[in-house]
Amino acid sequence: MRIGVLTGGGDCPGLNAVIRAVVRKGVGVYGHEFVGYRDGWRGPLEADSRPLGVPEVRGILPRGGTILGSSRTNPFADADGPKRVAENLEAAGVDGLIAIGGEDTLGAASRLHAEHGIPIVGVPKTIDNDLGATDYTFGFDTAVNIAMEAIDRLHTTADSHHRVLIVEVMGRHAGWIAFHAGLAGGANVILIPERNFDVEKVCELVGRRFASQFAPIIVVAEGAVPAGGMPDRNEASTDAFGHVRLGGIGHWLEGEIERRTGKEARATVLGHVQRGGTPTAFDRVLATRFGLHAIDAVHDGRWGTMAALRGTEIDLVELSEATAELKTLPPSMYEEAEVFFG
Ligand code: F6P
Repeated sequence: MRIGVLTGGGDCPGLNAVIRAVVRKGVGVYGHEFVGYRDGWRGPLEADSRPLGVPEVRGILPRGGTILGSSRTNPFADADGPKRVAENLEAAGVDGLIAIGGEDTLGAASRLHAEHGIPIVGVPKTIDNDLGATDYTFGFDTAVNIAMEAIDRLHTTADSHHRVLIVEVMGRHAGWIAFHAGLAGGANVILIPERNFDVEKVCELVGRRFASQFAPIIVVAEGAVPAGGMPDRNEASTDAFGHVRLGGIGHWLEGEIERRTGKEARATVLGHVQRGGTPTAFDRVLATRFGLHAIDAVHDGRWGTMAALRGTEIDLVELSEATAELKTLPPSMYEEAEVFFG
């Protein structure tokens, strides 16, 4: 068989580990051939590919990013997109695809399979950990560790200067990174997209923390919203899947806290640092296992499925299930952390 591989959406540490596992087992055990499509769905849409064999995947296990490149190209953006994908695969003699991506890439994969009969197996990825069908996605553990280390460092400088330090982390719809990094780093306030927050309450917690002679650290997810809404979010700037470019809540909070408490506040926006660099051991192992199960699924003709972590086992679930539900932080988990606030 000849299999195409693509990586779409925001990149994520561990993508190369998946690619390596797919190719190593696909070539070594099953004798398949591979085509690497560049930049997510742009590759099959524009017939842009590169060779992908065992020599190409040597040494990539610890490397962040993706050797295939990534994009947020939506194959459904043009009416003839799905047809072009199907024709280009056929012309290249590609029997099926492995699509590694998050809700947008896999949502497109699910539709291309269900509505256009394109044979696809999915692998879930996102640092946000918000895909419902799998217990964890790779990349998340790395992002949490990067954010935790930043919080550890901010504690000491916050205390030296008696400042409020705010860390803005990624998390568009779900506060998994904010919650895990905040809990691991001993944050004094954690703000997540799942529950609108009251700025006055945040200021109260800031005061309580200063009263203990230590300075407060606030972790805020980029998608967190104050009660009453965020006045100046730039709704005009969207990507091919219609997502608004977030960011700004950390600096907004900085101003509000200074104005309301008279304490100096500074925001650090971690941004893409959370997505770059080498994956943790946990993410390398999870990504590798996803890759091994994905190539098994291809070999067995289980098209329209996706590898998913359930407990400690990797299962295959329907691609349609992968993006059916966003996995948000359960309220009870958030409440567990509240004992450390202030
Ligand atoms: O989907 C992962 C994610 O990291 C989100 O948390 C974040 O909002 C988004 O990607 C940022 O994407 P981009 O790099 O395209 O701005």
